[in-house]
Amino acid sequence: MSNWCIQGQQLEFCWPGNKQPTLSIAEFAVAKGERVLLRGPSGSGKSTLLSLLAGVHQTQSGTLMVLDADLSKLSQRQRDRFRADHVGYIFQQFNLLPYLSALQNVVLAASFSKARQARLQAQNVSAEDESKRLLTRLGIAESLWHAQAGNLSVGQQQRVAAARALLGAPELLIADEPTSALDTDARDNFLQLLQEECEQQNITLVFVTHDATLSHHFDRIIELADMNTAEVSHAGN
Ligand SMILES: Nc1ncnc2c1ncn2[C@@H]1O[C@H](COP(=O)(O)OP(=O)(O)OP(=O)(O)O)[C@@H](O)[C@H]1O
Ligand SMILES: [Mg+2]
Repeated sequence: MSNWCIQGQQLEFCWPGNKQPTLSIAEFAVAKGERVLLRGPSGSGKSTLLSLLAGVHQTQSGTLMVLDADLSKLSQRQRDRFRADHVGYIFQQFNLLPYLSALQNVVLAASFSKARQARLQAQNVSAEDESKRLLTRLGIAESLWHAQAGNLSVGQQQRVAAARALLGAPELLIADEPTSALDTDARDNFLQLLQEECEQQNITLVFVTHDATLSHHFDRIIELADMNTAEVSHAGN
């Protein structure tokens, strides 16, 4: 078994309609169990890179191994399956279903994946009980579990999205600015809990933030600009 969670080579991604690629990365690797902070200015391609790692989009050249799958060779459908089973993804806009309750949003992560169900079963816990444990850990009190997700505050929605991503212990957790709406104390708290969950469940973490004060929570900091040779428009050219 490889010690790598992610191994990308010659990654290239150009959004349809754009003349210039957004990403051109010779090498990107993250070890299993590593907790990595990915940094870079707005528009530099952080979310785009995360979407490749999660298989939402596909690299247009090179290879991208995530766990045992080469995402550059899988169909959209196979990548969707892969993500449901192995990747927790906290999106920049969290993507909760607004008419479902907070709890239903979390439980849903397991209903799409036999792999997540199997891992919950191995731990002898139901999806609902584990969802409640995660919500509680992330500071979402019982009184909010049945509230419609769309009526929660932005910071609360971010935490529900984190619980959903963690349910059923995916091997890789990808988090795109999940702390932007939290105050400093809540942010540190959230990071602490996320780290503890990742450690306990042996989850590799790739986390995007602008917030330099969070750096000490991570094993390694990657500046996207240091490895991305695509000419990105934010650079003022
Ligand atoms: N759906 C899309 N269609 C076309 N272009 C896109 C799309 N999403 C992003 N882009 C372009 O790709 C580039 C990188 O965007 P991306 O969202 O990855 O940046 P980011 O580093 O995550 O920025 P931020 O910190 O503001 O979230 C930008 O120039 C953006 O315009
Ligand atoms: Mg982004």
